[in-house]
Amino acid sequence: MKALTWHGKGDIRCESVADPSIEDDRDIIIRVTACAICGSDLHLMDGYMPTMKTGDVLGHETMGVVEEVGRAHSKFKHGDRVVVPFNLSCGECFFCQKQLYSLCDRSNRNADQAAKVMGQSPAGLLGYSHMLGGYAGGQAEYLRVPFADVGPIRVPDELDDEQVLFLSDIFPTGYMAAENADIEPGDTVAIWGCGPVGQFAIQSAWMLGAGRVIAIDRVPERLAKAREHGRAETLDFSQVDIYDALMEMTGGRGPDRCIDCVGTESNPTGSFDSALDQVKAALFLGTDRPHVLREAIFCCRKGGTISIPGVYVGLLDKVPFGPAMNKGLTFKMGQTHTQRYLEPLLQKVVSREIDPTFVITHRAGLEAGPDLYKTFRDKQDGCIKVVMKPGL
Ligand SMILES: NC(=O)c1ccc[n+]([C@@H]2O[C@H](COP(=O)([O-])OP(=O)(O)OC[C@H]3O[C@@H](n4cnc5c(N)ncnc54)[C@H](O)[C@@H]3O)[C@@H](O)[C@H]2O)c1
Ligand SMILES: [Zn+2]
Ligand SMILES: [Zn+2]
Repeated sequence: MKALTWHGKGDIRCESVADPSIEDDRDIIIRVTACAICGSDLHLMDGYMPTMKTGDVLGHETMGVVEEVGRAHSKFKHGDRVVVPFNLSCGECFFCQKQLYSLCDRSNRNADQAAKVMGQSPAGLLGYSHMLGGYAGGQAEYLRVPFADVGPIRVPDELDDEQVLFLSDIFPTGYMAAENADIEPGDTVAIWGCGPVGQFAIQSAWMLGAGRVIAIDRVPERLAKAREHGRAETLDFSQVDIYDALMEMTGGRGPDRCIDCVGTESNPTGSFDSALDQVKAALFLGTDRPHVLREAIFCCRKGGTISIPGVYVGLLDKVPFGPAMNKGLTFKMGQTHTQRYLEPLLQKVVSREIDPTFVITHRAGLEAGPDLYKTFRDKQDGCIKVVMKPGL
């Protein structure tokens, strides 16, 4: 089959690889009908995520039609249309029982490797490095879905692929980010990053009762989307000092809730700390560039909450923990417990409360994938979200 594969920093290829097959009774194989490129895939492309190997199949936002089912299956049958969450969860362990699906204790086949660097291992992820399970991803014609009796959900025929695909990751991720922000009615919510995750965090902040949403980025079309579709006030970090602007907009108090939808690959902002991060990354002295986290800690009002869906990888330098402690901030973060949100958010799509297609700017077949990774990374051609359909 055709698949998008990783061959080192900046080198993504579309090539022929072996078809997946059932390896466990709980597996299903799907024929992929749509898949997407995520901001998290850029961390792989940019070489920030360790333990990738040449030829690894990428992709963790995927849906399709069930082709084959393992013997233990009663949930799905051949021909069912399903969306697949990006994290793999057994459904039975201590963490899955608590619906902490992204922390599943059993789905990472290489848990020892992850435990060495994290203390304990999180769940295995599709298409996301050997340290997180070494599972082939779904930017491909076919995908093997482990633990398929727990993860995927069937989707109604009346909704097309583009309307439901983002249940696999970015809609639940934006929603959990807003939930983690502990928004109280009328709160001012500041959201750093107007990529796909930021756009869904904006939508979700309103759903959860925000009184005001302020979105921060520098890419004009992403800021425009946040304003026009997201009804957010916007700040361009290349034009204004974000701390000064947020203080002015909130009467000197700071936003009640701050959401970091940027993560480890903050762009240079002209500030001293961000320049230092760039130098250290270039010299391999440290990979994370946590400028946004630092800024959010400074800007957040006393007693406020910082929610972090943006991915960080290792040990973060110069994070102002003293100010965070003394200001009494609450931090909530994590990979999304996607399975928890599938049904409730599907209902919001069915009831037309939200149409997730608003983020899509680019559609193509898998062959265009390598070029579209670059277009998405470099924010060229107005790109906000890429959807690929094998065979298109
Ligand atoms: N927690 C999860 O489960 C989960 C799931 C999906 C994605 N993510 C992470 O969420 C983050 C965003 O994903 P995405 O798909 O929206 O990616 P993206 O790269 O398209 O968006 C990031 C945006 O941040 C902006 N940005 C960069 N530096 C900034 C700064 N200093 N201030 C404000 N904005 C800045 C960029 O211009 C860009 O628009 C990534 O780190 C991704 O790995 C996490
Ligand atoms: Zn993702
Ligand atoms: Zn589990």
